[in-house]
Amino acid sequence: MPPMSRNTVIEFRGVTKKYGTGVYGLDQATFSVDREEFVFLIGSTGSGKSTVMRLLIKELEPTEGTIRVAGRDLAAITRRQIPFYRRNVGVVFQDFKLLPNRTVYDNVAYALQVTGHSRREIRARVPDVLRLTGLSTKLHNYPDQLSGGEQQRVSIARAFVNHPPLLLADEPTGNLDPETSIDIMRLLYRINRTGTTVLVASHDHVMVDKMRRRVLELSRGRVIRDEAAGLYARDESTREFAQRLRGPHEPPQTL
Ligand SMILES: Nc1ncnc2c1ncn2[C@@H]1O[C@H](COP(=O)(O)OP(=O)(O)O)[C@@H](O)[C@H]1O
Ligand SMILES: [Mg+2]
Repeated sequence: MPPMSRNTVIEFRGVTKKYGTGVYGLDQATFSVDREEFVFLIGSTGSGKSTVMRLLIKELEPTEGTIRVAGRDLAAITRRQIPFYRRNVGVVFQDFKLLPNRTVYDNVAYALQVTGHSRREIRARVPDVLRLTGLSTKLHNYPDQLSGGEQQRVSIARAFVNHPPLLLADEPTGNLDPETSIDIMRLLYRINRTGTTVLVASHDHVMVDKMRRRVLELSRGRVIRDEAAGLYARDESTREFAQRLRGPHEPPQTL
């Protein structure tokens, strides 16, 4: 196999994850993702998507094979180093995982507090990311005062406030209606355009086909497809992007 390029952000080589039950979450998976790519990880329920995500944040250890992130072998990261490693990886989940008794502002600020940022840095950074994610008018709301799409935006703001080089989203639109899902994909695409590599697990084929991004498909823990789905313009604007997702008959909408 050729040596890893300096632009490789994620590399799985012959990765197998066998759970304690004997079930294979991943089976000899080999793939890589380059810097600034936007990649979909697809496959039916149980195909191994979440296993990939959990291995990438070192919540799980592979049974076999090597995982590198930005050239670093995850096996060489000690338990004590894990929190520092995880600062480089933003994570978004299907069920948002917000703190229910904190406001939008505090949910995002909290991510900076735990990584030791000063109050001054927090005051400087949180409003910027809330603007990027379209939440400026909701900063005093509590999660239960927000729609599902807004809650997912908060969780994306929280994942991105540290400006990690890699953002992982595990079925981020799984609980959302189609129109809201488009807005969330558009936001993830906007984040990708700031230079962050984005890996999105999804089983929404319609959405993924419309996005025309690179697709990695898993089936029973194996990579069965890895291709750039159709031709796409790397420098497409987020508005063009959203327009294409909505289809030709609907007018473009601003965020
Ligand atoms: N903690 C676990 N213990 C045992 N088996 C698991 C565990 N997590 C996932 N699995 C199994 O591993 C396979 C892949 O699961 P997962 O990665 O969650 O798939 P996906 O996210 O694509 O639905 C499935 O067969 C699932 O049942
Ligand atoms: Mg899953």
